Amino acid sequence: MNAVEVWWARVDQAQAEFLNDLNAIEQERYARYRRDDDKARFLLGVTLVRRLVGERMSVPPASVVLDRSCRDCGKPHGKVRTAGVELSVSHSGEWVGLAIGTAPVGLDVERIDSRTDVDGVADMTLAPEELQELKRYDGIAKARAFTRYWTRKESLVKATEDGIGAGLCGVVVSSPDQPAAVVRWEGHDGPAQLVDVQTPDDDHLAALAVLSAEPPVVHVDQFRI
Ligand SMILES: CC(C)(COP(=O)(O)OP(=O)(O)OC[C@H]1O[C@@H](n2cnc3c(N)ncnc32)[C@H](O)[C@@H]1OP(=O)(O)O)[C@@H](O)C(=O)NCCC(=O)NCCS
Ligand SMILES: [Zn+2]
Repeated sequence: MNAVEVWWARVDQAQAEFLNDLNAIEQERYARYRRDDDKARFLLGVTLVRRLVGERMSVPPASVVLDRSCRDCGKPHGKVRTAGVELSVSHSGEWVGLAIGTAPVGLDVERIDSRTDVDGVADMTLAPEELQELKRYDGIAKARAFTRYWTRKESLVKATEDGIGAGLCGVVVSSPDQPAAVVRWEGHDGPAQLVDVQTPDDDHLAALAVLSAEPPVVHVDQFRI
């Protein structure tokens, strides 16, 4: 079975004592974030990974061996990897998420931001048919529809580890009011599954991509500390 767990933690769940489980590279990255909420989101992401993977492997969180090397430049800011499971971390606004699966996964959560210049960003990230569809929406509904597009597309490029650098216009997904699906993905071969994921509140949207021929069975939960 293609089972995927998605865990959510709220940014105010971060506690200073979690820092004790971080390795030296993670401590250094934590120290470099200037804003408290960025620090908290990063710390919670690491904590979710270390605690949940540690539990599965029956090892203490601090002993979980993680590889964060970036595929592009080698620096430790890439997709987090560990032996035996596939992982994807995402953070935005109030929430930090972790997807754990057996096939490569990509999770993306975004807060719906009514101040975003939707038309400006959409021009650079949506395919012509998606832009056309977006014209049906106005105001906050438009911000919400765009965020739906964005999370679906970004989850796919996070699953492959390509990231958004190669552009999102060639990653074409279903309309925001339709079930999540890949319509066309230029340059990508191989199976991919796409689903919307329930977030704990209405201000955020999330999507999960899995590079597998089999649709995932997704279990969503909130992390209790
Ligand atoms: C990396 C990227 C996917 C992150 O997206 P985002 O919306 O800013 O942030 P999210 O919260 O959704 O995801 C962040 C997490 O994605 C993971 N991640 C980093 N690079 C990734 C990649 N190439 N593919 C998949 N996941 C990646 C990390 O685990 C990170 O969490 P961390 O804070 O624990 O390190 C996006 O910024 C991107 O594609 N950037 C372009 C490529 C780039 O800048 N590469 C680094 C410079 S060489
Ligand atoms: Zn890099």
